[in-house]
Amino acid sequence: MKPLNIGMVGYGFMGRTHSNAYCQTSHFFPCEYKPVLKAVCARNKDKVEQFASTWGYESIETDWREMLKRDDIDVIDICTPNNIHKEIAIAAAKAGKMILCEKPLAMNTAEGEEMCEAVEQAGVRNMVWYNYRRVPAVTLAKQLIDEGRLGKIFHYRANFLQDWTINADVPQGGAGTWRLDAEAAGSGVTGDLLAHCIDTAIWLNGGIQDVSAMTETFVKERVHAETGKKQAVKIDDACSFFCHFNNGSLGLFESTRYARGHKALYTLEINGENASIRWDLHDLHRLQYFDYRDEGIVRGWRNIHVSDGDQPYMGNWWVPGLQIGYEHTFTHQVADFLKSIETGEEPRPNFRDALETQKVCDAVLSSAAKRSWMGV
Ligand SMILES: NC(=O)c1ccc[n+]([C@@H]2O[C@H](COP(=O)([O-])OP(=O)(O)OC[C@H]3O[C@@H](n4cnc5c(N)ncnc54)[C@H](O)[C@@H]3O)[C@@H](O)[C@H]2O)c1
Repeated sequence: MKPLNIGMVGYGFMGRTHSNAYCQTSHFFPCEYKPVLKAVCARNKDKVEQFASTWGYESIETDWREMLKRDDIDVIDICTPNNIHKEIAIAAAKAGKMILCEKPLAMNTAEGEEMCEAVEQAGVRNMVWYNYRRVPAVTLAKQLIDEGRLGKIFHYRANFLQDWTINADVPQGGAGTWRLDAEAAGSGVTGDLLAHCIDTAIWLNGGIQDVSAMTETFVKERVHAETGKKQAVKIDDACSFFCHFNNGSLGLFESTRYARGHKALYTLEINGENASIRWDLHDLHRLQYFDYRDEGIVRGWRNIHVSDGDQPYMGNWWVPGLQIGYEHTFTHQVADFLKSIETGEEPRPNFRDALETQKVCDAVLSSAAKRSWMGV
């Protein structure tokens, strides 16, 4: 195997999921390339040293610019808050590095456009971590749709529900709560959670034409973790929108961090003329499937346990009947990225694909602000 040297920026939640994936991938999806944990970067030297030693990174940096100068780094993996994706990605492209960037691609469409131009001009391989495409049950849904089993699609419905910001004492800004600060996050649930739903929707059901949205910020002021001062909250706490897809189907999306009792409930449902599909992140290894063409007396929702060797990704794991979980979606994404280098194919979703999601997010936020339908 040839080494593919990873330089990761940020060691938080995603830093851990990605590091875990780099460690696992070659054991389960061997290919010509093997990820090597070459360097990890964050600003706090002690903490980044500790992370490097826990995960086995060979070296550390405290300024990502230094990492870009190194010849022994092939891939820059951006696991930082959203407000510095653009700066790192454009500099990494100029340095000729392959780039893996966390979602959402950018703070807004304008930034995303610049990032796309930079990677395309530099001709560097790029991909965005919309990992839910690689849940085997969701990948199976894509397969069933592409085989035409659902027929004409009428409805696409998705929710992403959480409840962790209901308490008005949760601060905004700083480590851990940067998602509540518009300066660091760009938007609230729209860019953080709906972006996942939109990426999956575009992948499964094609492009979105126009949107009509409403947003709400339930807690209007929060203390900023860095300044200690109360400031206006400028992110959307909740967002719902309707849309038309290019294929004529209707979409309905909802996301909130105020759905008491829900920690990370991502659900989607697609209704076609012949069949319907339903999926739920809390039961992620199952795909619900209803086919009207089944014989009447046994017709009903099938509960498919996606764990067999001929189902997506599962042949590389355990034995049929034994399931996998959330972390494996990242392993699949790394595996597909490595394979793309071997085959010369474009890894997906790339920056351009993620820009489509960014455009929908921007249209949603502007529709809510203007209280009118917006074209994407
Ligand atoms: N794919 C997914 O399902 C998923 C899930 C969660 C987060 N994300 C995305 O991943 C990104 C990171 O989110 P997270 O939850 O890991 O956040 P986090 O707060 O857990 O980690 C962020 C990391 O970035 C580092 N950082 C911040 N500024 C930096 C700088 N200037 N230089 C170097 N390091 C810096 C912090 O030290 C921290 O290690 C975000 O873009 C987020 O939207 C994606």
